[in-house]
Amino acid sequence: MEGVKIIQLPKILDKRGNLSFFENSNQIPFDIKRTYWIYDVSGGEQRGSHAFKESHEFIIALSGSFEVVLNDGNKEVKYSLNRSYNGVYVPNLLWRRLENFSTNSLALIVSSISYDEKDYIRDFDEFKVIRNEAKK
Ligand code: TYD
Repeated sequence: MEGVKIIQLPKILDKRGNLSFFENSNQIPFDIKRTYWIYDVSGGEQRGSHAFKESHEFIIALSGSFEVVLNDGNKEVKYSLNRSYNGVYVPNLLWRRLENFSTNSLALIVSSISYDEKDYIRDFDEFKVIRNEAKK
């Protein structure tokens, strides 16, 4: 999907246990304003199903696995996340949902803005109109 990037984070391998990290604007292409996480998701549940007008996100499966499904209004692409050092960068104006969570999975999401309900587009038809306008 255009603009989307799978980003492999540094991995410091150590026989005591491995370590990965990211820093503001360093491994990920925006300034981090907020971090949130999604956990205790019951089997079959989905999260997301919306787009953001302005905010960019970076999503990692810190533990377990799930899929990030992105839709640009024309096509849908699924990204499977199942490593603590691989994340997906999702630019603004993409419809996204998270699904197929494994038991005890932990989704870590960093965002380029503080929480603002006005940045959400929660109607898919409205999303397509806004995206088409923006891409003209
Ligand atoms: P929402 O982003 O709609 O969840 P999802 O898209 O993953 O299903 O957020 C659910 C609720 O949590 C919503 O009422 C707003 C609140 N919320 C915050 O207060 N701060 C945040 O950073 C986020 C992401 C959500």
